[in-house]
Amino acid sequence: MSSPKTIRWGILATGGIAITFTKDLLVDPTTRGVKHVKHAVVAAASSSSKARAEQFLKDTGCPTDAKAYGSYEELAKDPNVDIIYIATPHSHHYQNAMLCLEAGKNVLCEKAFTVNAPQLKLLVDKAREKKLFLMEAVWTRYFPLSIYVRELITSGRIGPVARVLADNSVALNPEESFKDGKNRMVNPDLAGGALLDLGIYSLTWVFQTLYLTQPEDARTPPTVLAAMKKYAGTKDADEHATIILTFPRSEELGGVAHAVATTSLRVASAPGGTQDLPTTRIQGPKGEIQVYGPSFRPTSTKLVLGDGTVEEKQWPQPGPGKGSGWYNGFGSGKQPEGEGQGMFWEADEAATAVLEGRKEGKYESLAESIVIMEVMDEVRKQGGLVYPEKIETTKYPTQL
Ligand SMILES: NC(=O)c1ccc[n+]([C@@H]2O[C@H](COP(=O)([O-])OP(=O)(O)OC[C@H]3O[C@@H](n4cnc5c(N)ncnc54)[C@H](OP(=O)(O)O)[C@@H]3O)[C@@H](O)[C@H]2O)c1
Repeated sequence: MSSPKTIRWGILATGGIAITFTKDLLVDPTTRGVKHVKHAVVAAASSSSKARAEQFLKDTGCPTDAKAYGSYEELAKDPNVDIIYIATPHSHHYQNAMLCLEAGKNVLCEKAFTVNAPQLKLLVDKAREKKLFLMEAVWTRYFPLSIYVRELITSGRIGPVARVLADNSVALNPEESFKDGKNRMVNPDLAGGALLDLGIYSLTWVFQTLYLTQPEDARTPPTVLAAMKKYAGTKDADEHATIILTFPRSEELGGVAHAVATTSLRVASAPGGTQDLPTTRIQGPKGEIQVYGPSFRPTSTKLVLGDGTVEEKQWPQPGPGKGSGWYNGFGSGKQPEGEGQGMFWEADEAATAVLEGRKEGKYESLAESIVIMEVMDEVRKQGGLVYPEKIETTKYPTQL
C-alpha cells in the first residue's frame, strides 16, 4: 500500500473555532480509518500579533517548527502552505479568502461562506481563474452520519422526500451573554445574527436531503418565504429566522417538496440538551428519518417506517480514544475523553481534493453553496436585514 501523502495547512485567525479545528486536524487520521492522507500544520497567522499566533501554535499542540505570523498577508505568501483554513468572523471571509486566492492558495473557509451571494460568486470566479480549490467548511456534510442519511434517502427507504423540518436554535440569553453587543453573534459589523451563524445548518439539512440527493441535472433552487425577528439589543442582527422553502421537482421524482428551516438565538432546539427531540425530520410517504443532537454536530439517527420498522443508530466521533488524556470541544463545551469534535472529516475531504486535483468539495459543490447563499440573501431581503456597506461590499481590498 502506498504511504500517506501530507497536506500542509496554514491557519488564518486564532479564535474559538480555529483552536477546535486545529486540534482535530492534529489527530492521527488512522484513528478514523483514513490512511491515504496526513495533515501537518506548518503555519498560523493572527491579525492581532505574532505573539498571539505563537501562543495559538503552542496551545493547540502544533509542531515547534510551525511558523507564526503577525499578519494574514504573510501567511498567504508562505510558499510551504498548501491550503489555508479561514476562521475569522463571516464579515471578513470575503476579504480574507480573496487575499488567499490572489496569493495562489487553496482555501477551506468557515461558514457562512460570505455575507452575500455576490461576494461568493466573485470568490468562485477567482478560484476558477487561478485553478484553486475552494470549499465552505460545513463540516456536518462530511460526517459518516450525514452520508448514511443521504444513502437512506437515495436508496428509497422513505420514498421520495416530501417534507423536511430542520431547526438549529440555541438559547443564548443574548442580553446577558453579549451585554455590550460586540460579540460576533449579535454585532452587525461582524454580520451577526442567527441566520448566517446558526441557520446555515438548518439549511444544510434541508439542502443535503432535498437537493443534493436529487440527480444533478434535476436540482432546482427553491422559492423562499421568510419571517425574521431582529434582536433589539443591536437592531441589525436577527434573533430568529423562519424559512419556508418550496423545491420544484418533476412528478417522476416525487413532485414539489417543502421544507421549513428555523433558527434562533433566543430559544433552544433541544432545551437542556435533551436527546428526546429530533432537530431534523426528513419525511417521505413510507416513513421518516429523525436526526438527534445539535444540527451542526448530530449524534444519533432514527429511521421510523410506516410498517413498524425502527432503526436507531448512535454516531460517536472517533479520536485518540479513552485513556488518551486528550480532549477537544468548542468554547466551554467539552467532548468525552479521546473523542474528536468531528471537524477532521471536512479536512480529510479538502486534503483529498487537493491531492486529487479537484477544485470543489465532494458533498457540496460551489454551485450549491451559491444557491444557499442566495436563499439567505432572500431571507434577509424579506426580513429587512442589511449589514453595514463595508461588509456587504464586493470591493476588494476593503479595510475592515
Ligand atoms: N464550524 C463550526 O462549528 C463553527 C463554530 C463556531 C464558529 N464558526 C465560524 O467560524 C468563524 C469564527 O468564529 P469563532 O467563534 O472562532 O470567532 P472568534 O472566537 O471571535 O474568533 C475569530 C477570530 O478572527 C480574528 N479576527 C479578525 N478580525 C476580527 C474582528 N474584527 N473581530 C473579531 N475577530 C477578528 C481574530 O483572530 P486573530 O486576532 O488571531 O486574527 C479572532 O480570534 C465564524 O465565521 C463562525 O461562523 C464555525
